[in-house]
Amino acid sequence: MKKLEKYIDHTLLKPGAGIADIEKLCSEAKEHGFYAVCVNSRFVPVAKKALEGSDVKIASVVGFPLGAMSTEAKVFETVYSCENGAEEIDMVMEYGLLKEGHKQAVFDDIKAVCDAAAEHGAIVKVILETGALSDGEIVDACKLSEEAGAAFVKTSTGFGEGGATVHAVELMRESVSRNVRVKASGGIRDRETALAMIEAGADRIGASAGIEICKVPEGEEAEDVSSVLTPKNILVLNGSPKMSGNTAALVDAFCRGAQEAGHTVHVFNVANLSVHPCTDCRFCFDHAGECAIHDDMQRIMPHLYSDDVIVFATPVYFYGFSAQIKTVLDRMICMQTSKMTVKGSVLLSPYGDTDKTVPKPMIDMYKAFTGYVGWKNLGIITADGCMDPGDIKDHKALEQAEALGRNL
Ligand SMILES: Cc1cc2nc3c(=O)[nH]c(=O)nc-3n(C[C@H](O)[C@H](O)[C@H](O)COP(=O)(O)O)c2cc1C
Repeated sequence: MKKLEKYIDHTLLKPGAGIADIEKLCSEAKEHGFYAVCVNSRFVPVAKKALEGSDVKIASVVGFPLGAMSTEAKVFETVYSCENGAEEIDMVMEYGLLKEGHKQAVFDDIKAVCDAAAEHGAIVKVILETGALSDGEIVDACKLSEEAGAAFVKTSTGFGEGGATVHAVELMRESVSRNVRVKASGGIRDRETALAMIEAGADRIGASAGIEICKVPEGEEAEDVSSVLTPKNILVLNGSPKMSGNTAALVDAFCRGAQEAGHTVHVFNVANLSVHPCTDCRFCFDHAGECAIHDDMQRIMPHLYSDDVIVFATPVYFYGFSAQIKTVLDRMICMQTSKMTVKGSVLLSPYGDTDKTVPKPMIDMYKAFTGYVGWKNLGIITADGCMDPGDIKDHKALEQAEALGRNL
């Protein structure tokens, strides 16, 4: 159960807004306990500073308000926003292309932004501009957004044709799985409308009138509004031999965020387990996925058939995973992918070098493997310059890992 305030992205996107206006927005968000502020990307650093020490998140709009700029420009704006403190990206979909049937181009545009955000531990909300779309187009846009990796679909920019409607929110809720949330935005100015949107399936409300919306009418009590966000079970594999090293710090930060959001984590320190390398005996081929080797892999395996997300946490060892993680991966050859409940994955990885290309071969392999089994990449967080245990202490990757856990 959560308060209405925790649904609100306190929003200021209008032309002419300046630094003082954004600072005021942030101080209101802190005072009222709103979930996030939603600002233009230029103002992300201002919001970051103004929100220091608070738990109010920063959502940055990207490609706003037309969605018609190049994918490269949207990706650049996404990376800029994430590097300056945004945990959420509200990108505008190119709906003109959708209307003409160029679905692949729309998908590629959304996916590029989702991938860029995921590499910084941020989530993406795709603004559909539902007022300009037919019902069929809304359904298509929702499905494309989910496939491309969006965490939310969002109704409107507030600058286009029409705002959020109960009908659009209901249709969006029906068109995505429970893994994707719905944000209603555009023209929501009072409590009654906000509650109607939540009733219709909205998990978040974008509004400039958050203060007004959350005012409890005299004589009434503030209602607790329940969230439709489904808690997830998360399997975390820590492949570092150091129990208090940099990988463990990333795992702790991720788990803190995930648990705060109500998810359950199952952490395995693989170095403390006995997992034998795969012998390619092919027993599993003829025995419905059963592995001939009986060891601690049997403790991990059931989670692939019951949990929702898997996290690979590993130090970079010679451009790749640690042997502990690679051994577990190889043993997954016996998995029956059609029966697996895990649908998404995360990579957390510290390394000693300051050259940011060092983890690239490992990331390529992570993407190839997860693509092969059909898991959606939910985030890749790497931490450079972490040679000795404790080097990660002030690294922004810790914040990103916590945010990723919270935002799953
Ligand atoms: C066998 C081995 C290989 C390593 N290879 C690399 C490497 O290729 N590039 C790099 O930047 N760091 C490398 N490192 C450093 C680790 O990635 C780094 O110390 C990391 O923070 C260890 O994480 P931990 O504290 O969780 O064990 C290597 C360390 C070891 C022990």
